[in-house]
Amino acid sequence: MLDQRMQDALNAQINAEVYSAYLYLSMSAQFADLGMAGGQNWMHVQFQEELIHAQMFFDYVCERGGRVLLAAIDQPEQTWPSAVAMFEHALAHEQKVTGLINALADLSLELRDHATLQKLQWFIAEQVEEEATADDMVKKLRLVQDAPGGLYEVDKELAARVFTPPVVAAT
Ligand SMILES: [Fe+2]
Ligand SMILES: [Fe+2]
Repeated sequence: MLDQRMQDALNAQINAEVYSAYLYLSMSAQFADLGMAGGQNWMHVQFQEELIHAQMFFDYVCERGGRVLLAAIDQPEQTWPSAVAMFEHALAHEQKVTGLINALADLSLELRDHATLQKLQWFIAEQVEEEATADDMVKKLRLVQDAPGGLYEVDKELAARVFTPPVVAAT
């Protein structure tokens, strides 16, 4: 059985993951508006990944005999001044999410909830990758500095990203 504090924290994390999905979907909309189909694709893949994260926490709460309670999702930002500004926001957002996952791990240690701590290991590793990927795109976009030719090249790279469900979520 889940401790009430852990259940509340996991429910808050479901909300944070759906918010993340919504934020990236909003960025996907701006990339579409900019005519950057690659950026639109990249952000849509990220949107799908975040929904899977929410589903993984949802399934875990149910598996532990807890009760999922869904709350309202905040409105995400709608516009950004540039492509690089979107990825800078994505990076800052992922750093914040890493803090949330770490806080969940701290709580599981405090409650001696080993099962939740083990579940969180996947997310801890995932956050390292999330931050590194966003940081990589920020660096590339800073290099091209909104030059049309450079943005075109980066957009081609962003177009190549394909959504693949994480192995743990598929089981
Ligand atoms: Fe996530
Ligand atoms: Fe994320």
